[in-house]
Amino acid sequence: MNEQKLKNIPEHVALIMDGNGRWAKQRGLPRTLGHKAGVEALKEIVRYSSNIGIRILTVYAFSTENWARPAEEVDYLINTLLVEYMKKELNELHKNNVRIKILGDIDSLPDLTKKQIIEAVETTKNNMGLKFNIALNYGGRKEIIDAIRKITNMVLNGMIYEKDIDEELFSRYLYTEGDKDPDLIIRTSGEMRISNFLIWQSAYSELYFSKKLWPDFRKEDLDEAINEYARRERRFGSV
Ligand code: IPE
Ligand code: IPE
Ligand code: MG
Repeated sequence: MNEQKLKNIPEHVALIMDGNGRWAKQRGLPRTLGHKAGVEALKEIVRYSSNIGIRILTVYAFSTENWARPAEEVDYLINTLLVEYMKKELNELHKNNVRIKILGDIDSLPDLTKKQIIEAVETTKNNMGLKFNIALNYGGRKEIIDAIRKITNMVLNGMIYEKDIDEELFSRYLYTEGDKDPDLIIRTSGEMRISNFLIWQSAYSELYFSKKLWPDFRKEDLDEAINEYARRERRFGSV
């Protein structure tokens, strides 16, 4: 489908890129190669999202729970794939005016990974095109606890009063820092759960589940999700 045919483009799309491991298994390949293929799919989706005018694209790359995977897989994701992606893609992303942001705790990541991430974030920080949030070492519950800590400290230091705490203030202390909540959350691989992703921000998001494994997800699949989104009626509790 061409880009003009899409109506009602969601401003903020969030993606749970799931199914890399199964994709590899089906082919008798190691899981790491599934992740590598997943990065290729991601490149197309980022480029396309930017072209069709999505404002914010948030992708779930690595969860706080994913550390429990075999050491070899974690090592490949954190020390190889992520570093290579940031290195190889930075120029193109920057050229396309994409602004990269990380949602999650990067302090505890290995130095080289951290360095590459910081370079990408710093290089693109003034770009006004697609805002590309990468949820990395991300957990929705951790995000909420972190916000509570920051807000509690401000109250204790007399910077704000307890009565100032409302939903708007709270959401500014999440990693998304008051970004518009996701309009549409897509999860691939047929699993129908949130897995600790954007649990505060997804309160009124439309959910879309694709049976495709993430490495097989193409721009046409994103079109399909957006078209389905456009057909839905969002009510936000009203009638
Ligand atoms: C998603 O694919 C990528 C990450 C969680 C890093 P999986 O690795 O979870 O793939 P499956 O679910 O095992 O197929
Ligand atoms: C969610 O997928 C995390 C990412 C896509 C990075 P998982 O594969 O880790 O989620 P579960 O374990 O199936 O819930
Ligand atoms: Mg999975």
